[in-house]
Amino acid sequence: MPQRDYVIDRMISAKAIAARIEDLAREIENAFAGTDKLVVVGLLRGSFVFIADLVRELDMNVEVDFIEASSYGNATESSREVRILKDLRGEIAGRDVLLVEDIVDTGHTLKQVIGLLRAKGPRRLKTIALLDKPSRREVEVTADWIGFEIPDAFVVGYGIDFAQRNRNLPHIGQVRFTGEEAKR
Ligand code: IMP
Ligand code: MG
Repeated sequence: MPQRDYVIDRMISAKAIAARIEDLAREIENAFAGTDKLVVVGLLRGSFVFIADLVRELDMNVEVDFIEASSYGNATESSREVRILKDLRGEIAGRDVLLVEDIVDTGHTLKQVIGLLRAKGPRRLKTIALLDKPSRREVEVTADWIGFEIPDAFVVGYGIDFAQRNRNLPHIGQVRFTGEEAKR
């Protein structure tokens, strides 16, 4: 299928993201004060830029691990099942864990990954998402920390893709379709 034509309108600047991450890092340091070594788990692939910036802002011992879950398949909305494509490398039983997600949209991914991580018996599990689209929620879940709440728009950049494009955009932009397809 050919790529539909679109432009990207700036939504959140790289500077605003950096400033927000500084504040979030202070809150995370406080919440995990006394933690020997925090396991920061990035949910691939969309969180890779966010986790890179976040851990460099954290003034504490961290271990970095990744997990990859299947994204939107062809499952129906209500029974959407999230499969693990790549599991953690390290152990999290009895440990303090911070799960890092790019966007919470319907909430299915975050809710199910939380369930999967909880089953491994962490001592504490907290979650952070760079973006939250609360108006799109289908299941009840909220991250402990949110970078920015955004409206129901399709966004790209800062690690987040549209059909595997635009992950390398340094800011968050909103996709706007142009040309004939936009009128359909
Ligand atoms: P959820 O299970 O519906 O909450 O979906 C979460 C995942 O969907 C995110 O981790 C993203 O990978 C993807 N996603 C949701 N909204 C967007 C968007 O606006 N742009 C790109 N990917 C998105
Ligand atoms: Mg994704």
